Amino acid sequence: MKMKRKDATILAIETSCDETAAAVVQNGREVLSNIISSQIDLHTLYGGVVPEIASRKHIEKINQVILEALRSADKELQEMDAIAVTYGPGLVGALLVGVSAAKAISFASGVPLVGVHHIEGHISANYIENKDLEPPFVCLVVSGGHSHLVVVKDYGEYEILGRTRDDAAGEAFDKVARAIGLGYPGGPKIDRVSKEGNPDAIFFPRAKVADAAYDFSFSGLKSAVLNYLNSCEMKGIEVCQADVAASFQKAVVDVLVEHSMRAVEECGMKKFAIAGGVASNSALRSALREACEERNLLFYYPSPILCTDNAAMIGAAGYYEYLKGVRSGYDLNAVPNLKLGER
Ligand code: KG4
Ligand code: ZN
Repeated sequence: MKMKRKDATILAIETSCDETAAAVVQNGREVLSNIISSQIDLHTLYGGVVPEIASRKHIEKINQVILEALRSADKELQEMDAIAVTYGPGLVGALLVGVSAAKAISFASGVPLVGVHHIEGHISANYIENKDLEPPFVCLVVSGGHSHLVVVKDYGEYEILGRTRDDAAGEAFDKVARAIGLGYPGGPKIDRVSKEGNPDAIFFPRAKVADAAYDFSFSGLKSAVLNYLNSCEMKGIEVCQADVAASFQKAVVDVLVEHSMRAVEECGMKKFAIAGGVASNSALRSALREACEERNLLFYYPSPILCTDNAAMIGAAGYYEYLKGVRSGYDLNAVPNLKLGER
């Protein structure tokens, strides 16, 4: 579908998990500001995100972050064409802070409100640095809460080919990191430590889901790592943290690459993109770059700052929803388990 383009500047707000974020984005692709107030240090104390603490921290930060986004974009609220806000999926209390702030600002200013799907935001992060990228393409979305293999048929139009049956990829990284004593957040730490380890030191299983070839399952892999650690402890064998990290990471990367390339080939696509926090993993990026080169595919990936949760991606997704005429009412609510492609 060719949409009639028009200029629009969007104030975007994202509070679905542990980052309080606001951004100003022009025409879906030009980031004028991208402010992120991270709560990672706070949640590190507890080894993971504590939902109630996340909500309270969002309340403390949200106004400051929104004002900072407008100020550093050198824009006034009245110059905005829309306010885009993540309304799901995510932690309900966290989402509610962003949604309530967006509704209040929209009501007070008369600037229209556009509710945005968080995963649609992650996918749309690819539009920001790849000005030429247009649907259709296949996208692998791998974050702390989601692992999806999606055909982006058009802006805002998705066909889900596969999803995780249990743990999300990022969740597996975080749990294994905790088990080998790396702490939270696990993904970036496993990425770093793996560079010192041998990815072929230990063979961990690459799970297949029998009745759904594109689905993922990572909980068996996580259990295999835990079993390996237990058996080493019982036998008095010293565990090499870097080898376990690198071998686990390779098992995840192998499955993600295999599923992705099969999807791209079977769908006959020429373009492939990645999104979500785990998309900044260096081993995953280089394995996918190589796999795409071998097949003559165009490979798209956002910078790490646009892979993890941010509001610029919500501004990108919000622009295309805005162009389609999507407007949310003041009854917009947080939907913690919102499905991709649903409103
Ligand atoms: O997209 P995101 O910021 O939040 C969600 O929507 O879930 O993803 C966060 C997840 C965490 O599980 C984190 O450990 C993982 O992304 N992550 C990584 C890397 N950087 C972040 N996983 C592997 N390698 C990385 N470099
Ligand atoms: Zn996310």
